[in-house]
Amino acid sequence: TVAPVVVAIDGPAGSGKSSVSKAVARRLGYGFLDTGAAYRALAWLALDRGADTESAASVVALLDDFDYSIGTDPDGYSVRVGEDDVTEAIREPRVAAVVSAVARVPEVRAHLVAMFRSIAAAVDRPGIVIEGRDITTIVAPDAPVRILLTADETVRMARRSAELTDLAADSVGRALAERDRADARVVDFLNAADGVTTVDSTHLDFNRTVDAVITVIEEAST
Ligand code: CDP
Ligand code: CDP
Repeated sequence: TVAPVVVAIDGPAGSGKSSVSKAVARRLGYGFLDTGAAYRALAWLALDRGADTESAASVVALLDDFDYSIGTDPDGYSVRVGEDDVTEAIREPRVAAVVSAVARVPEVRAHLVAMFRSIAAAVDRPGIVIEGRDITTIVAPDAPVRILLTADETVRMARRSAELTDLAADSVGRALAERDRADARVVDFLNAADGVTTVDSTHLDFNRTVDAVITVIEEAST
């Protein structure tokens, strides 16, 4: 069998990575892998076990029985940890608040990177769109298509806030900016690495962003 084609997409929170990657995967008949979901699921497990998320050793100790699974179908994927369906729970603000601390632990990153590569290799489709923060640089640096999806911070915050009530919007915006700053100290997803194409969605609506990504993919395959 031929290895699936990898489309690697990185970017900050609210740049449109997940929604755009999903739509691109759907258009191409590819699989879709949201890598942030795994960091969130491990953070959820830490909270569930009452582990100290600020202690690297406590977080590393969880890896042994981190029984994680995620579907790669862009039309409805679910996330499980052991017997628990955590698809919704990992989106809660209490998880977002501790995920950066979990994600900065080197052993965690090594463990999850290996996991992402085996999930991608096993996908039963001609390709897979993988999105996160270090896909273009660490997880799949040899991918034939590598894209950094960006948008100005105010636009990214506004997009996330549009999903929420006015009251929640402000604090979520601030929490998001804070999380980006913490994450950027660990992996650089604000600057495109060599050979990575930047797609700036600041002035593009959702459909145009999907088209722009498809264009980059088409250009890479000609
Ligand atoms: O969708 P959103 O931008 O809110 O975040 P996410 O993609 O669900 O990622 C959640 C968290 O996981 C990020 O804030 C990072 O701390 C971590 N992450 C990472 O370190 N490396 C990745 N490849 C993906 C996510
Ligand atoms: O995964 P990430 O945090 O990068 O972003 P997302 O959750 O995919 O997108 C955040 C919101 O922005 C979603 O509601 C998208 O529909 C929206 N979006 C937009 O309004 N315009 C774009 N060009 C891209 C995304």
